[in-house]
Amino acid sequence: MGVVEGLLALALVLNVVVVSNGGKSSLFVRKVKKTVDMPLGSDVFSVPPGYNAPQQVHITQGDLVGRGMIISWVTMDEPGSSAVRYWSEKNGKKKTAEGKMVTYRFFNYSSGFIHHTTIKNLEYNTKYYYEVGLGNTTRQFWFVTPPEIGPDVPYTFGLIGDLGQSFDSNITLSHYELSPRKGETVLFVGDLSYADNYPNHDNVRWDTWGRFTERSVAYQPWIWTAGNHEIDFAPEIGETVPFKPYSHRYHVPYEASQSTSPFWYSIKRASAHIIVLSSYSSYGKYTPQYKWLEEELPKVNRSETPWLIVLMHSPWYNSYNYHYMEGETMRVMYEAWFVKYKVDVVFAGHVHAYERSERVSNIAYNVINGLCIPVKDQSAPVYITIGDGGNLEGLATNMTEPQPEYSAFREASFGHAIFDIKNRTHAHYSWNRNQDGLAVEADHVWFFNRYWYPVDDSTAYVSH
Ligand SMILES: *[C@@H]1O[C@H](CO)[C@@H](O)[C@H](O)[C@H]1NC(C)=O
Ligand SMILES: *[C@@H]1O[C@H](CO)[C@@H](O)[C@H](O)[C@H]1NC(C)=O
Ligand SMILES: *[C@@H]1O[C@H](CO)[C@@H](O)[C@H](O)[C@H]1NC(C)=O
Ligand SMILES: *[C@@H]1O[C@H](CO)[C@@H](O)[C@H](O)[C@H]1NC(C)=O
Ligand SMILES: *[C@@H]1O[C@H](CO)[C@@H](O)[C@H](O)[C@H]1NC(C)=O
Ligand SMILES: *[C@@H]1O[C@H](CO)[C@@H](O)[C@H](O)[C@H]1NC(C)=O
Repeated sequence: MGVVEGLLALALVLNVVVVSNGGKSSLFVRKVKKTVDMPLGSDVFSVPPGYNAPQQVHITQGDLVGRGMIISWVTMDEPGSSAVRYWSEKNGKKKTAEGKMVTYRFFNYSSGFIHHTTIKNLEYNTKYYYEVGLGNTTRQFWFVTPPEIGPDVPYTFGLIGDLGQSFDSNITLSHYELSPRKGETVLFVGDLSYADNYPNHDNVRWDTWGRFTERSVAYQPWIWTAGNHEIDFAPEIGETVPFKPYSHRYHVPYEASQSTSPFWYSIKRASAHIIVLSSYSSYGKYTPQYKWLEEELPKVNRSETPWLIVLMHSPWYNSYNYHYMEGETMRVMYEAWFVKYKVDVVFAGHVHAYERSERVSNIAYNVINGLCIPVKDQSAPVYITIGDGGNLEGLATNMTEPQPEYSAFREASFGHAIFDIKNRTHAHYSWNRNQDGLAVEADHVWFFNRYWYPVDDSTAYVSH
């Protein structure tokens, strides 16, 4: 492979790409260094000072339309108060919302006191301050509510997946926080703490992850998707309830979209309708998730929310030799719906690398016709794998060869992405690798809305 070696040498200087069947495999060469978790004493894990001080503060959308926020935090010394005091920058009038407190045990670990309080009927497009830890050590944070839902409302989503708590995770988060495109909400595609990689799933690593991410998620909502590292199913140590730590710590507003489970639900935010699915809950015909999605998709009103975005953990289209075809059974169940309802984009994680597909579908197959090759389809979503947050398991570098035609761009580097909605027809999408400067977009493309502007937006190199 002399040609490839030659290109590799060039790639040391520039971001050179190899043109294959369809898309490009970037040959950006990063320093190959082992991915290691930040030690327990790291600055990012420090415990806030003061008696019973709230820690691991995190927020997520708390209703269907963006006028509510779920505020969560943990206290360690005593239960303390679950109340949140909040006020808007506009009028400063203080209000208090009551919440609830939960605890759980996992093997020999006992959680702190986990508080979840939903504040509702917030004004759109307004900065709010909030205080937690009332009666003991209080801490104050703030967030900005989204604009009122509407078809041409610009809004900027960050995309992060498979984050973990390694030194690379910290670089990914810092890079996202300082991005000149200023993400307003994170769409998180699953695999949060990777505590389950520690002996007995040491849940202390759930606490450290909560303290590490607080600097972002206390100030802007992260929309949660459950990944395989949230399952925490460990019958060998007597832990047989899946998702126990995750579902005690991270609450989502699933009931607002008539879901019966926190693992699949939807929200509307600005000009987007976001559907979160669970790769690790049953999704076959007649199951609760299937019935919910079947009823959910017809409810999407593109006049109100032109952008239809789906989040899941395990990708349907993935050309790396990792988790290969793990998303296949769910694809078989739901892909025809995604084409019918013209989903704009599907974000997934799981594979620790980056990949963006062309608009393709593979829905012609039935058991007798043998049609099983993905075809170009302008009604289909673009599939993006963004599982490159930086967790301790390291990068997925082994790709299937040749690169399949549907794969537009792939690269094994850590990073994050930004989906920057401009209006009902255009969204600018970009992916940043951690090694670059803040403004460098290693992959970027304009998305044309499938409902309002369904012109061909494929980016493929011509096949040869
Ligand atoms: C839990 O058990 C492990 C293994 O026996 C031990 O190392 C650890 O110190 C224990 N943790 C607690 C909180 O008891
Ligand atoms: C901590 O706050 C709770 C709730 O307000 C209160 O009941 C408790 O007395 C406080 N603890 C101390 C030591 O002040
Ligand atoms: C994590 O990143 C922050 C912000 O860049 C930095 O201040 C901190 O020292 C980093 N911590 C570690 C352990 O890398
Ligand atoms: C869809 O949204 C538009 C704009 O808000 C509204 O006028 C219309 O009635 C909605 N359609 C349905 C079927 O609810
Ligand atoms: C890449 O994955 C393939 C398929 O699993 C395997 O046969 C091959 O040995 C792997 N290559 C490397 C360098 O690990
Ligand atoms: C939508 O946004 C795109 C990109 O900024 C712009 O080129 C286009 O003119 C906008 N459309 C309208 C109707 O403003």
